[in-house]
This record gives sequence, C-alpha cells and structure tokens, in this order.
Amino acid sequence: MFESDPLKIFKNWYDQAKESEIDKPNAMTLATVDNHGEAYARIVLLSSFDINGFVFHTNYLSHKGVQLAENPSACLLFWWDCLGYQVRINGEISKTTAAESDAYFNKRSRGSQIGAWASEQSHVIKSRQVLDDRAAEFEIKFSGKVVPRPAHWGGYRLSPTSIEFWVNQENRLHERALFTRLESGSWQQDILAP
Ligand SMILES: Cc1cc2nc3c(=O)[nH]c(=O)nc-3n(C[C@H](O)[C@H](O)[C@H](O)COP(=O)(O)O)c2cc1C
Repeated sequence: MFESDPLKIFKNWYDQAKESEIDKPNAMTLATVDNHGEAYARIVLLSSFDINGFVFHTNYLSHKGVQLAENPSACLLFWWDCLGYQVRINGEISKTTAAESDAYFNKRSRGSQIGAWASEQSHVIKSRQVLDDRAAEFEIKFSGKVVPRPAHWGGYRLSPTSIEFWVNQENRLHERALFTRLESGSWQQDILAP
C-alpha cells in the first residue's frame, strides 16, 4: 500500500534518486503527440516540481514546443535503475510565467544562455559551423552585458492528471500503483497488475 499523496511519494523517491549513484536523477523522458497523432519522445531535465506540477525548460519553437502548442497533453517518464523505480506522469501542459522563466534563465551559466540564443532547436542547419558562428555572434552582441532570456526559451509546467509508480519485484510480480486526480482535487489510488 502506498501513501495517499502521490507528490509525497514522488518527493521521497526523487530524494532517494538524488542521494544514489544515479548521474542525472532529474533526466526524464518527455513524450508529446503532434496534430497527426504521431508520438515523439526525448530526454529533458526536470527543473523543479511542487504541488502545481513538474517544470522543465526548453525552446518554445522546437519540435516539442510546436507539438505542445498543438496538443498540450504530455507524459513524463523516470526510470531510476539502481532503485528499481519507474514513475509515469500524464498531464496538461502550460508555459511557466515569464518571471519564472527569467529567474531560471538567470541562474544558468553564461555559455548556456548564449546557447539558448544560438540554437534554433530542432531546425535543420547546413553544418555545425552555422551553430558555432551564431554562438560567436551572440557572444559579441552580449559582450560585457547580462544575457537576456530569449522570448523563445522558457519553462513548461506539466500539471499531473495521473501518476503511476512502479516498483521492481522478483519474478516480474512488480508493484504498480496508479493515482488519478479527481475533480475534487483528491487522488484515487488503484493497484494495477504488472
Ligand atoms: C541528458 C539529457 C538532458 C537533456 N535536457 C534537455 C532539456 O532540459 N531541455 C531541452 O530542450 N533539451 C534537452 N535535451 C535534448 C533533448 O533530448 C532534445 O534533443 C531536444 O530538446 C530537441 O527535442 P525536439 O526536437 O523533440 O524538440 C537533453 C538531452 C539529454 C540526453
């Protein structure tokens, strides 16, 4: 039996992952679906989470950004191998506020800030040189200045509608608990066969 608040379970597992040997415990698969129903997945990093949802940062004009504008439902997946834990989170996506995105951007290294300007993420470029040249151009443009956040870069928050916890067990008799958010805001808990 799991405790009744899935966010408390997530926090507990995430804390364990951060204390473990796992290199990037905040790496998660983000799955999105475009307006043709085609699914895409890629790794992004969890920036933060709280009662309002799970936040990651990216380029709003990237493939994922276009897909999330077309279809603002997404799925996040964590697999923490040494703990034997998998967590799947489905939910609705919204952009974080400009102030939140600014605050996060301002904490990043200058190199990452320049990179956010230089990379037209997911777009075809003629060669690697194009990227390096753009990075050099923005280095010059912002030389001696604070690098501002580009409007095309910022956070998304996934507000969870369901969270499934999976615990590895012997003989493939794994434990699975599915939490579904009810209209009232409380969570229904169901056990799933593995
Ligand atoms: C460990 C790891 C962490 C990553 N973190 C991010 C991230 O936080 N944000 C991001 O936009 N891309 C991140 N990426 C790159 C994405 O996987 C992906 O290549 C990129 O966002 C473009 O995806 P898209 O073309 O589907 O939009 C990361 C990749 C890896 C392997």
